[in-house]
Amino acid sequence: MSIELTVNGQLHRLEVAPDTPLLWTLRDHLGLTGTKFGCGMSLCGACTVHVDGQPTRSCITPVAAVVGAHITTIEGLSTPAGRAVQQAWVDLNVPQCGYCQSGQIMSAAALLTTNPHPTDSDIDGAMAGNICRCATYVRIRKAIHRAAASLAASGAG
Ligand code: FES
Ligand code: FES
Repeated sequence: MSIELTVNGQLHRLEVAPDTPLLWTLRDHLGLTGTKFGCGMSLCGACTVHVDGQPTRSCITPVAAVVGAHITTIEGLSTPAGRAVQQAWVDLNVPQCGYCQSGQIMSAAALLTTNPHPTDSDIDGAMAGNICRCATYVRIRKAIHRAAASLAASGAG
């Protein structure tokens, strides 16, 4: 079946079954392998993308459910919040093995878009669904504060 998907601002027509998870459509059909498979059950957050700006678990999202939506993956994350988060991740050297980090960054960027000045508990709440087996949580929290400060300084926060 032919499905049209808008990913990172580009419209794609793909031959996929409507119940194919968005994660596999992104990775296998579009080659966007920055989005990772962790648990496949909405438990770890490694597969997080934005659907119309909302952080979404692509492993449990059938592709038919996002036809007509704007999907953003780590490869296309270029909003002011997205750029600030990525720079803060680099500045603070957040990743260890890196596997969970694209999901972490997508969740962090979505948080700062809706809440430009999050408290520690806002961060913990928003990031609770993103698991890091390397336990980089302290650096993640610091990096989100840094990104928030940088957005505020630039007038975008
Ligand atoms: S792979 Fe989707 S939440 Fe774990
Ligand atoms: S950096 Fe290794 S799982 Fe998070």
